Amino acid sequence: MLGTLLPGAAHLQNFHPLVVHFPLALLPGAVLLYFIAGLSGRESLAWTALGLLGLGTLGGAVAVGTGLYAMGGVMVDPTVHERLLDVHERWMLATAALAAVLTGWALVARPIPRRGRVFFALGLLVLLAVMTKGADYGGRLVYDYNAGGSACGQPIEFTR
Ligand code: HEM
Repeated sequence: MLGTLLPGAAHLQNFHPLVVHFPLALLPGAVLLYFIAGLSGRESLAWTALGLLGLGTLGGAVAVGTGLYAMGGVMVDPTVHERLLDVHERWMLATAALAAVLTGWALVARPIPRRGRVFFALGLLVLLAVMTKGADYGGRLVYDYNAGGSACGQPIEFTR
């Protein structure tokens, strides 16, 4: 049934690639809206930003769950495991932790923290940087080393 309706999804070895794009889109959207809200002083935008931040953090938690599950089954060479998968895991756990802290802070001082606002803004920028760096390792796993795919034989030893 799934193979007929969505043959691409049916070929996936795990759900991780289906969920990662939610935090990858929602968190930058939240940061953009928070900055526009901060500059324009429009509180309604800050509420929307808080909503996006919360949803992005939830999506990040689901991505962490599916990622940890995927790690157990995905077949990669031990060199790729060490140089890419373990590194991806560390960056993404840091991303999820930072997103949770910033969401908690924004919920307590909703919709946008007034005291320590500069640190909140810096935290949002660091969040995007950490997420982008970590996701790049995830992309390399898939597009350089065929993790979770069946385009060519496994395992492929790490080269660069
Ligand atoms: C915020 C959390 C996370 C995000 C946004 C994220 C993002 C990504 C991205 C963008 C890819 C490439 C997928 C593609 O292009 O199809 C990927 C692949 C992968 N990630 Fe993550 N990741 C997260 C957490 C984790 C964690 C904690 C692990 C645990 C080790 C993990 C394990 C994997 C694995 C095994 C792959 C290879 C593809 C697969 O079999 O699913 N990820 N991730």
